[in-house]
Amino acid sequence: MCGIVAAVSQRNIVPVLVEGLKRLEYRGYDSCGVAVHQEGALRRARSTSRVAELDTLIVEDGVAGFTGIAHTRWATHGAPAVHNAHPHFSPSDANARIALVHNGIIENHEALRAELQAKGYTFVSQTDTEVIAHLVDHHYAGDLFAAVKAAIVRLKGAYAIAVFCRDEPHRVVGARAGSPLILGAGEGENFLASDAMALAGVTNQIVYLEEGDVVDLQIGKFWVEAREGEGFVRATREVRTVYAHSGAAELGPYRHFMQKEIFEQPRAIGDTLEGVTGITPEFFGDEAWKIFRDIDSVLILACGTSYYAGCTAKYWLESIARISTQVEIASEYRYRDSVPNPRTLVVTISQSGETADTIAALKHARSLGMEHTLTICNVATSAMVRECRLAYITRAGVEIGVASTKAFTTQLAGLFLLTLALAQVRGRLTEAQEAEHLRQMRHLPVALQGVLALEPQIMAWAEDFAKKHNALFLGRGKHYPIALEGALKLKEISYIHAEAYPAGELKHGPLALVDANMPVVTVAPHDELLKKLKSNMQEVRARGGELYVFADADSSIESEPGIHVIRMPEHYGALSPILHVVPLQLLAYHTACARGTDVDKPRNLAKSVTVE
Ligand code: G6P
Repeated sequence: MCGIVAAVSQRNIVPVLVEGLKRLEYRGYDSCGVAVHQEGALRRARSTSRVAELDTLIVEDGVAGFTGIAHTRWATHGAPAVHNAHPHFSPSDANARIALVHNGIIENHEALRAELQAKGYTFVSQTDTEVIAHLVDHHYAGDLFAAVKAAIVRLKGAYAIAVFCRDEPHRVVGARAGSPLILGAGEGENFLASDAMALAGVTNQIVYLEEGDVVDLQIGKFWVEAREGEGFVRATREVRTVYAHSGAAELGPYRHFMQKEIFEQPRAIGDTLEGVTGITPEFFGDEAWKIFRDIDSVLILACGTSYYAGCTAKYWLESIARISTQVEIASEYRYRDSVPNPRTLVVTISQSGETADTIAALKHARSLGMEHTLTICNVATSAMVRECRLAYITRAGVEIGVASTKAFTTQLAGLFLLTLALAQVRGRLTEAQEAEHLRQMRHLPVALQGVLALEPQIMAWAEDFAKKHNALFLGRGKHYPIALEGALKLKEISYIHAEAYPAGELKHGPLALVDANMPVVTVAPHDELLKKLKSNMQEVRARGGELYVFADADSSIESEPGIHVIRMPEHYGALSPILHVVPLQLLAYHTACARGTDVDKPRNLAKSVTVE
């Protein structure tokens, strides 16, 4: 989703801004732009194409300057078009003096727009952002910091902004509320960015700005103030050394980041479970023992792929730890009347740790008196980790592909560990069981390598899938969420309509869709539900549907006309969902490649959804 990079420096900062945008590309965007202070005026370049094209424009137009702001936009208000791309200027004519970029959504933008139009401001875009630019200009009387503070108290909604002014060439002002923004302190130069990765290689001295902060950036110094009611007070923020991997954004021998990330899963799971030599609640934080003893249920809140990780964990938590578990889509939970239970462990799951709906759902749960909070998150420095009392940091590494893969399997690993820790506290884990689970967890990286070796067989299937318009995915029990995740992967990157059902539900509706043109992917591990699943498969065959089955090594399902079988190398027991999702990731990936879609940056989607 939208990305911000901004700088005050004493060198031409445009290459750094562009490099920062490239590092933020993975978040998803549909247009981009940069603005600088150049020869006493504001200059900008904007594009509805990739950052690489923006770079070409910058070179052609000779855009250069010491002070600048840059942005990748993911359209919310107004189509992806150059006139809607940031930076926005105010006034919107040749006398422009304010340049601004924004991430978030301003909810009262219509009222503000009417008010500013009445004051004589002309709007040239359909964005909510342009309102902020004009508002800052309206309040500007020679001090940008004061103008921004006066403007933001009028805003309702979520924002991270970076602003500069033609008349103060060595100053950038930033502010955040509800959207992430960090400050990077360099040598004689200072930066703002949506995340530390944007500044990798530039500075590792990072300040995580807090909710309501406004920051004044100048050469060699910065000043933070925190919102207090309608006013602001001086605030001190810790400068931390953050090692954001710049090398992680390299593709190596792979065609796409998604493929690279699928193949990184043995390493990612190995790293996530490193040091797990016995089960203890302490993996989740110092207070974990106390909290785990105090709870009688679990409420999981998440979005997208992370939500499906939660759905899978529900099966583990209820069957192994014997603890009642609910899983809710964060954007639904935050707005519905629910019955709070203060003895619930609220678990958020998030790759980015910045998903607006999940953070809001967490805060909502807390506001209902549920104080036992834990997050399974891939970014140790994220808002989610800061907001929760307990945390387990997955070590997937930076995930660039919008479609999540290694983050999902590492989340599952973290959730399995949580299940075992809760089982232990609840007296549901014998030493023998603990030893057996640990053995299986240690085996995961090797088992994953075996599954990845199936890639050539899956590529052959992908050729068939690429010609289809629809697909059904079936699973049962803890593999039903895996079927859901497989369908999500296929639709988000290949744009083929795909749906998932628990196989027993087929006869209650979706069977009407089955004919020779409907491929039916079946996740068929050799477990207690296999017999039932085989009957469901017969229902498909009887209607002429083509089955594509992922079976375990010891399964009795054989290939025959209309039934294609890929056999997984082993039978995996409780951890089977972690293995069975991998061929579905590969199927989606190769189908998308065969259709020639933009695999890493699928249309209309964003990696990190920091707006509601
Ligand atoms: C976006 C991404 C998904 C991700 C979801 C939740 O929709 O495209 O891949 O699953 O957000 O993100 P989170 O960072 O909270 O896991």
